[in-house]
Amino acid sequence: MYLSFLLIFCYYLPLLISACPIYLTISLDSKTLQDAYLEINWGPECHDHPEWIGIFSEDPSTTYFHPEARITNINNSSGKVLSNVKVGKLRFPHGWNSNDDNTVPIEYPKGKCLPYYVASFNGSELLTVECLKIQPNWMSKLEHIAQMPLKDLFIPGTHASGAYVNNLVKTKSVLVKDYVVAQQFDVWSQLVFGVRYLDFSIG
Ligand SMILES: *[C@@H]1O[C@H](CO)[C@@H](O)[C@H](O)[C@H]1NC(C)=O
Ligand SMILES: *[C@@H]1O[C@H](CO)[C@@H](O)[C@H](O)[C@H]1NC(C)=O
Ligand SMILES: *[C@@H]1O[C@H](CO)[C@@H](O)[C@H](O)[C@H]1NC(C)=O
Repeated sequence: MYLSFLLIFCYYLPLLISACPIYLTISLDSKTLQDAYLEINWGPECHDHPEWIGIFSEDPSTTYFHPEARITNINNSSGKVLSNVKVGKLRFPHGWNSNDDNTVPIEYPKGKCLPYYVASFNGSELLTVECLKIQPNWMSKLEHIAQMPLKDLFIPGTHASGAYVNNLVKTKSVLVKDYVVAQQFDVWSQLVFGVRYLDFSIG
């Protein structure tokens, strides 16, 4: 059995310098990625509290749709709330799925949002928008990266990279329960998301 450690996978590049950073993560509590719920996160240092934060399936800064879920009463500087919005079938843009034909995929200098957005509001005033995004080409889009020593790079990585959850068998051991899950993405998807440090525990 593979034992691996809980990985907190977050892509957190605020679009604006905001008084209250917000971002989405995917809960690791479900058996499959499709059944996994989105989590709304705020902080660190969320001081100017928005009135509410919503999850949207389209960019609310271009077209306003009703949120799929919303939370209010943000009281503190950082935290996380599980929503009832499921990830469902996750598809990357054409060319970036592992089973797509040989089309040359489009490159995204700043990453590309998947249709999962989170936005904070004061009444109807939009304050911040963030999304779950893929960053398949981030290294080649960084100027001067070729001249940079490795020690100066912050490289997103995963632990036990090949031991992803496909169908999580629940363990009864309290000691192990919180640590068996590595992530819900296969190695290809991790690379598309931008992970560049992979750790394989061969066993
Ligand atoms: C939202 O509005 C309230 C009341 O008008 C204000 O105190 C607060 O600073 C506003 N929050 C943000 C993040 O703009
Ligand atoms: C904020 O605090 C109130 C009162 O303690 C609580 O009812 C509410 O759930 C809190 N908000 C969040 C987002 O947890
Ligand atoms: C803030 O509130 C959230 C939701 O109620 C909670 O999960 C989190 O632990 C709290 N954070 C701090 C720093 O107290």
